Amino acid sequence: MTFKIGRVVLPNRVVAAPMAGITDRAFRDLAREMGCGLTCTEMISAQALIRGSRKTARLLDIAGEYPVSVQIFGSDPGIMARAAQMVVEAGADLVDLNMGCPTPKIVKSGAGAALMRDPDRAGEIVAAVAAAVPVPVTVKMRKAWDEASPDAVALARVAASAGAAAVTVHGRLRSEFFGGEADWGIIRKVKQAVAIPVIGNGDVRSGPDAARMLTYTGCDAVMVGRAARGNPWIFREILHYLETSRELLPPTPALRVETALRHLELMVRYKGEARALLDMRKHAAWYTRFFRGAARLRERLHRATSIPELVNLIREIDSGCFKEFL
Ligand SMILES: Cc1cc2nc3c(=O)[nH]c(=O)nc-3n(C[C@H](O)[C@H](O)[C@H](O)COP(=O)(O)O)c2cc1C
Repeated sequence: MTFKIGRVVLPNRVVAAPMAGITDRAFRDLAREMGCGLTCTEMISAQALIRGSRKTARLLDIAGEYPVSVQIFGSDPGIMARAAQMVVEAGADLVDLNMGCPTPKIVKSGAGAALMRDPDRAGEIVAAVAAAVPVPVTVKMRKAWDEASPDAVALARVAASAGAAAVTVHGRLRSEFFGGEADWGIIRKVKQAVAIPVIGNGDVRSGPDAARMLTYTGCDAVMVGRAARGNPWIFREILHYLETSRELLPPTPALRVETALRHLELMVRYKGEARALLDMRKHAAWYTRFFRGAARLRERLHRATSIPELVNLIREIDSGCFKEFL
């Protein structure tokens, strides 16, 4: 079933969450190959982009990708609008505004989840960005800053009337960071409160989870974050479940190894060997976490000093030492 955000038609209702340090180009390619309907970049500092930071510009490696959303963060409407124009020039199909990041450094600057406490400013940012770019603008938010502050229903209303084409709601307070369970009730309330599409997020780890979230909240699409780490098949699994109400068998150990190696190959292509070596260590550990000896392997992965060494370590694990899921 297709799903529309503004004039962008997405092939299905399963989207990948933006995750700093994880959802780089290689990750997004794999997610898309596994059927994911929309991928998103890591969050990008609007300020740094405008300043011309080369490190930040590298996060904007999206040429030829479709459909792709680029997420920016910041607290100044003018800077956010200018940064949004830059990401659209680079090829973004959608611009996502981060109003959910709980990190102290980000909220101290008035950005991320701090905007949930400041709906007026949040509205100014959405309006400035929506007026500056021709593509749909979306907002990703949490449940609220804390129990005492305006919640996602209030912010979603502000966003919708300022021109947002969709909102994503992660059902946790800022103060909860990633602890506890996501509250899907807030997603349901937001869906009832606004006419624009609502993407539900938080604790979707399987096809049945996705189906439950769609049914319970009435949301238009589900967003998957942590469950996709070292597990890009999750997108295929969810799509299959939504279509058939049946679960796919988990990937075989050999497929896990093959996919980890393909992930590494994509990283080398996009980032070069030195960066890929550093960035792939954590992904390799995620891909192999269900194998016996995973803890020891993780240590060795962290000491690997070359791509061939990393490849050998990943291959070595494929020797029948797979722990079944409990
Ligand atoms: C390592 C990590 C990095 C993240 N980076 C971002 C980010 O850059 N932008 C953002 O909006 N959310 C970010 N998130 C939050 C996720 O997008 C998502 O909202 C959250 O993980 C809840 O979804 P999940 O339960 O499916 O993981 C990050 C989460 C993690 C674990």
